[in-house]
Amino acid sequence: MPGARPARLRPRRGWGPGAPGNDLLGFLLHADPAMPDETVASTLHSILMGGHGVPAAALTSIVWELARRPRLAGDLRDEADGPTGGGAPSSAARLPLAEAVVRETLRLHPPAWLMTRTAGAATSLGDWSLGPGDDVLLNPYLIHRDPRWWRRPDEFDPARWSHGQQAPGPAYLPFGAGPRVCLGSALAVRQLTLATSRLAQRFTVTSPNAATVVPEFVGRLAPAGLRASFLARSN
Ligand code: HEM
Repeated sequence: MPGARPARLRPRRGWGPGAPGNDLLGFLLHADPAMPDETVASTLHSILMGGHGVPAAALTSIVWELARRPRLAGDLRDEADGPTGGGAPSSAARLPLAEAVVRETLRLHPPAWLMTRTAGAATSLGDWSLGPGDDVLLNPYLIHRDPRWWRRPDEFDPARWSHGQQAPGPAYLPFGAGPRVCLGSALAVRQLTLATSRLAQRFTVTSPNAATVVPEFVGRLAPAGLRASFLARSN
């Protein structure tokens, strides 16, 4: 964790799990099996940073897509207003179109568009031989647009996720993969699904520059300088 001071966590070790004011840090400190302070600090950092800015980048891309697709926004509205949309927060599972829009947005605009791994030992990866310390760059943005795995890869098509269709094998990596896969993926999909549905249901989303804005590949991938208006719908 940049700037982390695991030593500062030590006093908190003394607090019991039910101590007043206990919080996410307390939960991590009392995890079973126990984690060393360095791991607690880096996990806390990942949750606070990754759990906030990354979903925000995804939501910006969703707004970008909605602003350009009034018909899709209308379909989302119908779903939200329909018998399965309901109003309860638990209804995300019954919003298949909204979830498909989220999954498709994360395919075309994965906020974590570049990841790295460092080989710990000599190994091979396909045709490549790696030595200890070699870095491997993984680019979900390119993998998600590779025609070997995706039909019409550059087309925004939520229908490719309809009826519970799954991604083609390991070619869908918005949340990474393997032992360091995103811990918040289920929460993120649920939150974004509800946000997408509610946005379309309650607002008309427009943007003066959605047609010209370009994605920015700095840190998290998101449309740079997108401007959008949210006009409350009266019903
Ligand atoms: C759209 C939303 C999100 C996306 C696209 C996303 C993406 C990712 C990716 C790609 C990784 C793996 C990075 C790597 O392998 O190098 C990751 C890790 C992680 N994410 Fe997320 N994330 C999202 C939301 C969240 C949320 C909401 C939380 C927590 C509340 C969260 C917590 C974490 C944590 C703790 C890790 C580190 C896991 C580990 O290293 O063991 N993420 N995320």
